[in-house]
Amino acid sequence: MTGLVVAMDGPSGSGKSSVSRGVARALGLRYLDTGAMYRAMTWWMLRQGVDLADPGAIAARCGEPLIVSGTDPDSPAIHVDEVDVAGPIREADVTGSVSVVAAVPEVRARLVARQREIIGAGGIVVEGRDIGTVVCPGAAVKIYLTASAEARALRRSAELAGSTARAQQEAMARRDTLDSTRKADPLSMADGAVELDTTAMRLDEVIAEVLRLVAEQT
Ligand code: C5P
Repeated sequence: MTGLVVAMDGPSGSGKSSVSRGVARALGLRYLDTGAMYRAMTWWMLRQGVDLADPGAIAARCGEPLIVSGTDPDSPAIHVDEVDVAGPIREADVTGSVSVVAAVPEVRARLVARQREIIGAGGIVVEGRDIGTVVCPGAAVKIYLTASAEARALRRSAELAGSTARAQQEAMARRDTLDSTRKADPLSMADGAVELDTTAMRLDEVIAEVLRLVAEQT
């Protein structure tokens, strides 16, 4: 499985993380969560007090933080300047701002370069929004995971205590709109990607289907 890259794209709440980690574990591959890198950049910008309404200010500072991502599917680690940010990057302030930061081309150029270094010779499952289209268009297996807006919101609100499905659905719809309408590398299905609608599927069924596609396409 060295050399293999599985690109896993799709909107928020489609199940990318659980599926990607399950597939990586089953095949003994590494795992990269590129969303965590955009979240880490956003966490740093917020902490520095960078004006997120000003793309120029974001672009000017995005080279400063040192973002280091682990690739163990059992405990995906993420550090910014040696601070463990795995918890803080899931907080509402980061989630509410990440799509704005991720829309800045200079941020994307920097993080995509870093992602390609980590992917290296492959042997990895990579999840994000632009993996099959931009980061690794040559990936042997490209999956585009979707689910109905209701199912995605329900999954997220089950993960986040105190948040209602309706509030989740609205917040996710806002983020998905920003992610799929931005100029730089918008969320879209890659050429050659297989679309998997997970609305009515259990996690183990989705993982089994991806493993079947990997076996078929490699
Ligand atoms: O996957 P997750 O929901 O943690 O991603 C957070 C945000 O990071 C997305 O809403 C999107 O704005 C951005 N992102 C991106 N490209 C990727 C991965 C994530 O723009 N490859």
